[in-house]
Amino acid sequence: MSDSEPSAPAYRYAAPDEWHEVDRYFTQSFVGEDDALIAARRSGAATTMPHAEVAANQGAFLGQLVTIAGAKRVLEFGTLAGYSTIWLARAAGEDGRVVTLELEPDNASIAEANFRAAGVAEHITMIVGPAAESAARLISDGAEPFDFVFIDADKPNNPAYLTAALELTRSGAVIVIDNVVRNGAVTDADSTDPRVQGVRKVVDEIAAHPELDATAFQTVGEKGWDGLIIARRR
Ligand code: DHB
Ligand code: MG
Repeated sequence: MSDSEPSAPAYRYAAPDEWHEVDRYFTQSFVGEDDALIAARRSGAATTMPHAEVAANQGAFLGQLVTIAGAKRVLEFGTLAGYSTIWLARAAGEDGRVVTLELEPDNASIAEANFRAAGVAEHITMIVGPAAESAARLISDGAEPFDFVFIDADKPNNPAYLTAALELTRSGAVIVIDNVVRNGAVTDADSTDPRVQGVRKVVDEIAAHPELDATAFQTVGEKGWDGLIIARRR
């Protein structure tokens, strides 16, 4: 990690050597990253959010969830270089489809090349623009309901993305939200960080929602101290 990488939040790098080592151990043991995934992960460094992609073992975890859920239609908020998108698309399988929403055209170009190299481009529809607007268009177009949603875009908009996800999913759908611990900042009710408040608001909304069963857990690893919410529609 060089000093020249721009504006990366410090918390993302707060990972002791042991956390890296354990990630390496499990990733080497279990996670088959082929050349296309390795290239996609590395190309994340060229996006507007260097190193924000999920770790390899987390990508495999998302794939496992898609497989366990039997999800065929997957919606992703936040593509970046498409690393998690490839995991989701491969897990959704030959008859699967991933719709992924990305704000930045330059990120989308990187992702598109990665999808082609990974052999999943045919299974992925990427929509470029503000994700809330893209999701609103999916809703107004009457998009077929999704089975699985991964929310991993700009954190202040988490509540808007949850609202859209609830309009775009069927009963039984799984909704996963990334980066909900943020080095422990999530418990600071007075945080002035809009990303923390975006997480806290979506936590409140999920907790209050009569149709959602959810849990959340912390993760440590090469991406620092963070965590995931896993929610399911009744
Ligand atoms: C941030 C966003 C991410 O999706 C991630 O995985 C890590 C960090 C961020 O907004 O800082
Ligand atoms: Mg993330």
